[in-house]
Amino acid sequence: MEDKDYLLFIDNVKKKFGIDLALYKEAQMKRRLSSLREKRGYKDFQSYIDAVSRDVELKNEFLDRITINVSEFYRNPGRWQYLDQTIIPKLLEVNKRPRFWSAACSTGEEPYTLALILSKYLRMDQIDILATDIDENVMGKAQHGVYPDRVLKDVPKDLLHKYFTKENTDYRIANEIKSRVTYKKHNLLAEPFNGPFDLIICRNVMIYFTDDAKDQLYNKFSQALRPGGYFFVGSTEQIFQPQKYQLEPIAPFFYRKI
Ligand SMILES: C[S@@+](CC[C@H](N)C(=O)[O-])C[C@H]1O[C@@H](n2cnc3c(N)ncnc32)[C@H](O)[C@@H]1O
Repeated sequence: MEDKDYLLFIDNVKKKFGIDLALYKEAQMKRRLSSLREKRGYKDFQSYIDAVSRDVELKNEFLDRITINVSEFYRNPGRWQYLDQTIIPKLLEVNKRPRFWSAACSTGEEPYTLALILSKYLRMDQIDILATDIDENVMGKAQHGVYPDRVLKDVPKDLLHKYFTKENTDYRIANEIKSRVTYKKHNLLAEPFNGPFDLIICRNVMIYFTDDAKDQLYNKFSQALRPGGYFFVGSTEQIFQPQKYQLEPIAPFFYRKI
């Protein structure tokens, strides 16, 4: 009974919100959503989805629970250092105006980290980063560009001074960095990828998807990279059999399109 209730719920969520929960790992997602449903006092998923469809606050809370939005600047700093010192110089050797995509960018820390790094190599007007996420609310926060200091702890001090202004206990990112990032709503599991890109960063979202969904996505990411382009993944997201997707591992969590 309980499983049928959840399967029907998955159908309804797909119809109403265009999000296919069947492509997210089931046990984890079901646990997250069951605890929210119970907290709000609904005895089953059917009555919960009815309420979510009627009430905007419940809907936002529900969408928030599906999309885990935690992020920070320079998340896993050693990997960003590698990007800065090795990958970006290599990319710029072959192409003076590379195309960058930060996929599942959440509240903007990731594309802004990339923009901060690129600011050391390029003029501001040469930097152009596409940043996408399924969740418009988080991208609203990214465009607002104000962050608590805990997500900024790994920003190099010179860049912090140069591109952030303190506002009470928060920090506002400078417009010259902000304006280099274009935000667009995009569902990785349902929409085409608009390549070719020289660097795609997609971190800390694949862990939520089923193996089948990952397999399809790695193919799509690979097709969206130009040969010699790079794919930067999260620090628990090594690709099993990257050759299958015409990707070769070049350093931990970095792959190059063959
Ligand atoms: C944990 S955050 C990762 C943020 C950033 N990439 C990082 O590593 O710090 C995961 C993001 O994936 C987004 N997301 C979840 N499902 C998605 C989908 N199907 N398509 C695009 N984005 C999705 C969520 O909205 C959330 O902002």
